[in-house]
Amino acid sequence: MTKKLTPEIEKFLWDAAEAAAALAYAPYSGFHVGAALLTSEGEIVTGCNVENASYGLTNCAERTAVFRAVAEQKLSRGVAIEAIAVVHRDHQSCTPCGACRQVMHEFGPNAIVLYEYEGERRQTTVNVLLPESFQL
Ligand code: THU
Repeated sequence: MTKKLTPEIEKFLWDAAEAAAALAYAPYSGFHVGAALLTSEGEIVTGCNVENASYGLTNCAERTAVFRAVAEQKLSRGVAIEAIAVVHRDHQSCTPCGACRQVMHEFGPNAIVLYEYEGERRQTTVNVLLPESFQL
């Protein structure tokens, strides 16, 4: 079952994602994205997109946050993503890409995803964004 977020935690995640978007390295697309995830242990970890002159090597904000959380021992097999907020620096619509959906699913199939779409804040879950995900 997906847990509900308190309004306070939700606001914290939106604000943290927005702060992370300001740190994005996106000189090629000019599309600055930030993400902030909440773990089942109550930790918050942020990430931003990091582009590269070899465009295909770009890492999205969501995956940066997930990989960072693992590297910092805040996410593992026993610790799940409860929620993740994703925002564009100037509040353009930004839904997680397919690669990020698969990566988020690994650690949080039931995680709540907060995102902005056409100027509106919306919520869904990773399972809804990625039905029948790949699993070993
Ligand atoms: N991007 C993200 O960081 N997250 C998303 O959910 C979608 C796209 C980044 C990748 C690239 O640096 C830029 O946005 C334009 O695609």
